[in-house]
Amino acid sequence: MNTLSPETIAIVQSTAAVMQQHGLAITTRMYERLFVDPDMKKLFDEAASKSGEQPKRLAGALLAVASNADNLDVLTAAIERIAARHVATHVKAEHYPAVANALLPAIKDVLGDAADERILNAWGEAYWFLADVLKSREHGLYTRGA
Ligand code: HEM
Repeated sequence: MNTLSPETIAIVQSTAAVMQQHGLAITTRMYERLFVDPDMKKLFDEAASKSGEQPKRLAGALLAVASNADNLDVLTAAIERIAARHVATHVKAEHYPAVANALLPAIKDVLGDAADERILNAWGEAYWFLADVLKSREHGLYTRGA
């Protein structure tokens, strides 16, 4: 897997402890922001796992990125599982900006001044890096089934 810039890696890794502490609050806030859009709400309602685990899973994924930013290859199995779930629930490439636009402000909402411009930019870069990996994997699953 390709990698992030050394500076982004250092910044994202420096937020691992904060993500451990506040990850769930961030992802809970992210869904509040995301679900203002009824189409987004519908997508998750139709996924219907209704386990209440979704913010925890996303928080876990964020924490995994923060902890392993210098070695994202360890996330390959997790990415495979997420991509399969996304395809099963009809997540499309065009949905990714809405999640970025909910996640990054949610980080700011929860962390306040602790999330300065550098941190938000680094997380933006990490999000889009991961999003590009997922989108390309999902494209393969949608078009070739593998
Ligand atoms: C980098 C971006 C993203 C990451 C890291 C991520 C992460 C995850 C994770 C960890 C899961 C749980 C997988 C499992 O069941 O083990 C998941 C499921 C899901 N994701 Fe994402 N996701 C991302 C982007 C998106 C986007 C853009 C959408 C569409 C708006 C989306 C919609 C969903 C849905 C509908 C599910 C299934 C929920 C359920 O099982 O109830 N995700 N995602």
